[in-house]
Formats: sequence, C-alpha cells, structure tokens
Amino acid sequence: MVIDAPADSSRAEELRRRLVAELVDGGSVVSDGVAAAFLAVPRHVFAPEVPVEEAYANDVVRTKRDGRGVTISSVSAPWLQASMLEQAGLAPGMRCLEVGSGGYNAALMAELVGPTGEVTTVDIDPDVADRARRFLDGAGYRRVNVVLADAEDGVTEHAPYDRIVVTVGVWDIPPAWVDQLTDRGRIVVPLRMRGLSRSVALERREDHLVSLSHEMAGFVDLQGVGARQERLVVLHGEDVGLRFDDDQPVEVEALREALLQPRAQVWSGVRFGGMEPFDGLFLWLATRLSNFCLLSRTRSDAARGLVDPASPIGTPTLIRGGSFAYLTFRKVDEPADTFEFGVYAHGPAGQDTAEQVDELVKVWDRDHRHGPGAVIAVYPAGAPHERLPNERVLEKKHTAVSISWPSP
Ligand SMILES: C[S@@+](CC[C@H](N)C(=O)[O-])C[C@H]1O[C@@H](n2cnc3c(N)ncnc32)[C@H](O)[C@@H]1O
Repeated sequence: MVIDAPADSSRAEELRRRLVAELVDGGSVVSDGVAAAFLAVPRHVFAPEVPVEEAYANDVVRTKRDGRGVTISSVSAPWLQASMLEQAGLAPGMRCLEVGSGGYNAALMAELVGPTGEVTTVDIDPDVADRARRFLDGAGYRRVNVVLADAEDGVTEHAPYDRIVVTVGVWDIPPAWVDQLTDRGRIVVPLRMRGLSRSVALERREDHLVSLSHEMAGFVDLQGVGARQERLVVLHGEDVGLRFDDDQPVEVEALREALLQPRAQVWSGVRFGGMEPFDGLFLWLATRLSNFCLLSRTRSDAARGLVDPASPIGTPTLIRGGSFAYLTFRKVDEPADTFEFGVYAHGPAGQDTAEQVDELVKVWDRDHRHGPGAVIAVYPAGAPHERLPNERVLEKKHTAVSISWPSP
C-alpha cells in the first residue's frame, strides 16, 4: 500500500494540475477525458524512485536498465502517453490491452474506460509486472489485470479488445494482436519503419489495417520472440554510424574511406521555422529512397567535425555503392529563426547522390508538406493488394507494411 503524507499529496496535486496545463498548451492533451485522467492518477506513486517534481516533469522516468546501461523499462513521458491515448480514443465501457506495463498508463486507461470497462496490462519482465501490480493496488486500481508474459501471443483470457495500446517499440505486428481486436477495434502501436519509429493508430479495413493517424514516438525496444535489432555499421570508431533496418549489402570499407574525403553539398531552397517538426520529410525520404539508412553521430568533437546531420540520432541517408548523401540544414538570416534544408554527400558519386536526395526534398515541399501525409497500411504477409501512389512496402515477418502518399 502506498500512503501519501497530506503535505506530499497536496504538492503532488498542484504539480499534476501544472502538468495537465502544460500538456494542453503543448497540444498533446486535446480531450476532456484524457485531461481528467491525468488529473486523477497520482503519477508519483508509479515512480517512487524519483523526487515528486521529477515524477511530474514532462519527461520519461527510467526504471530499469540492462547490463549495458540501456533503458529497458520506464514510465513513459506524459506528452507521449497523452498523445497515444488521444490516438486510441478510449471510451467508457471499452475492454483494453496495454502491451508493456509500469502501472501508470494502465491507470490512465482505467480512468478513461471507467468502472464498466476493463484494462489488462502485460509485461515480459517479472520485476515490472510486480511493481505495476503493487503500485496499481496502492493507487486504488485493483481492477486492472496485470499479466506476466511475452505479449507476442496477446492475452487471450481477456480478449477481444476494443483497443490495444502498445507501449514498447516494435518492428512487426504479431497476428495475435490483430486476431484479439474486435471488428471495430483500434490498435495504437509504435512501429519501426526503416528505422523510423511512429506511433500509428490503425483500424480494420477488410483483410488489413489502415492508419487513422501517426505521430513521432520513441520507445524502448521489444524483448522476447518478436525482438529484432537494427544493424549498426560504424564508419569512424563509434563517432559516426549508419543504422540499417533492411537487409542490404553495404560496401563498408568504401563508405569509411568516403567519409574522410571532402564533402559535396546542395542547398534546396526549402525553408522551415525553428519549431516546425520535420518527421514527415524523414518518412517521405524513407519511403522514396531505395537504398536507405539512418546516419547517427555521437556528441564528440570528432563526430561533429565529420558530419552535420539534421538529427544526430538518425538522419535519412541514401547509399549508392561507396558514396552516401544525408539530409542537413543551415540557419538562414532572413527571416529570423528560419532554416534551409540541404544535403551533404561523400564519395565518388557524392554530387549525384546529393542531387537525388535534394530533388526528393523539393517534391516533398511541393506536393506533400502541407498535405494529408502518409497513409500506413498493414497487410498479412504475402497478401496481394492494389499498388498505391508513391508507395513503399516493407516486408516483415508477419506483415507487409505499406507506406503510401496520396497524390495531391
Ligand atoms: C516503456 S515501458 C512501458 C511503459 C508503461 N506502459 C507506462 O506506464 O509508462 C516498456 C515495457 O515493455 C516491456 N516489454 C518489452 N518486450 C515485451 C514483450 N515482448 N512483451 C511484453 N512486454 C514487453 C518492458 O519490459 C517494459 O517494461
């Protein structure tokens, strides 16, 4: 049982109100229901290892790391939980499954589905399942079911689900999740597509699932039978790497040499404001470039001296033999707080490769930047479907993920 001293609990209440105001301001909380859930659930009870102020910061609380120090469990950041709950559209009376536990998000879900609904949360890690059970009981959510299992097979005993909310990063969608979804059900899942992770809200259309929305989302990686790691090719010690999510041959030595040669550059004339997200452009390039990977770099001076990618974590990159080109940007003077996309490239075919990426940046700006964005559809592996405009199909183990861009 978790018991708050009265002073702590009024402090927590005040911090909770502030957090909700921040989430509403930032646009991650939109509905009254999600706002009320965040006001009701005492987040600090689910993160007792950190001071109460940290529990209510709009940030992730890391709760478990593996032997290499990599986070394997956390209480996710409130803005991300809010955004996914909005995507999920939970309503009173619904029966829901959460994949990946911690307790807090399951409690938010329990608030949203109310006493007539049902929430089940499943985690592969006994420590996490244990603490989720303890904290949920302490906070008054005994009615949430906590199950210890690999979620690959879903949780049959409480199925079918009106909503499945996956809170761990996956590369594929196991058949059980689709089978355990009601006909009008919805699944919200952080799906990795060519290395880019997006929280995708999917609903059924005949034999497949189609996206209603997709948002930026970073999560810890799935463990268990569905785990699938990216391949990292290092180009200069640990400083600069290329992350591959597809199986493709890579001329590693030639790329390492290319990195040390002078770079080619092209500036697109496509400008953006400092606050504008460019996740749409990243997904567009991931869709249109065949030999695609993500360039990443450390914060070291050596890394900064070698490459200047749009995002240090992972920037769209085109590989052509022993050459590669990646997206970058630079500040422009007028108007203030404005930037311009460009492409840097290395290797014998650097200039051509840069121009190929640059052309796609311009097409995105002209045709898709202000449009409806990509449509993501998930088919059972091997199922035929009509060819869509500007489509890329990613063949996974259980599914084929189609990312297409409706014509303007
Ligand atoms: C980000 S945490 C979940 C956060 C949580 N929903 C919350 O309240 O904020 C991700 C969890 O997924 C779990 N996980 C990883 N692989 C899994 C699998 N195959 N089946 C079930 N859980 C898994 C991890 O143990 C980890 O606790």
